[in-house]
Amino acid sequence: MLLRMRGFEIHKEYLDVAGQHEVLEALRPVLRAAPLYRPDTPFGKPMRVRMSSAGRLGWYSDRSGYLYVPQHPSGQAWPPIPAPVLAIWEALVGPDRLPDCCLINYYDEEARMGLHQDRDEADFSWPVLSVSLGDDALFRMGNETRGGTTESVWLASGDVVVMGGPARLTYHGVDRIRFGSSRLLPKGGRINLTLRVVT
Ligand code: SIN
Ligand code: FE2
Repeated sequence: MLLRMRGFEIHKEYLDVAGQHEVLEALRPVLRAAPLYRPDTPFGKPMRVRMSSAGRLGWYSDRSGYLYVPQHPSGQAWPPIPAPVLAIWEALVGPDRLPDCCLINYYDEEARMGLHQDRDEADFSWPVLSVSLGDDALFRMGNETRGGTTESVWLASGDVVVMGGPARLTYHGVDRIRFGSSRLLPKGGRINLTLRVVT
């Protein structure tokens, strides 16, 4: 089922349970090679989510700012983006240009993500595509500038959101997750993947 809200295309139940497990299995070796870590924000506070990346470039944050880097903090190159993840991009965005980065965010019981824009990429004509796995998340959508009214939707495991066109620079965030609402991840919590064309 496709919902459109504020330019966001929300594909509810895009991945069935088998498809969710396929993506999760493909992420295991990625997270072994590039373990989740908790980055610092430019404001000096650690982020609430733990993160890692796959692809040619990974999103990175520390006290000096946000940037894309070719390596995990360990010094290892990021692992390639797994095929079942690329397949979602090819189906919903197209095969002409594949994403450079698959950012992996893990939300534990306490984690959330404040309203923000994704604007560290060079070309906003490419959408950001998000894949939700595990516990439900309350996803909030605002406007192209800070402030104003917002609308929220619960994202469940298997939902895929395309943030493109008018929604590409729209503020968005995650207020909270419903811990334990899904049995996909053995220890609970939520994984969100965002696929981005960076350069
Ligand atoms: C993000 O905006 O980077 C993540 C959104 C989400 O976790 O659904
Ligand atoms: Fe974002």
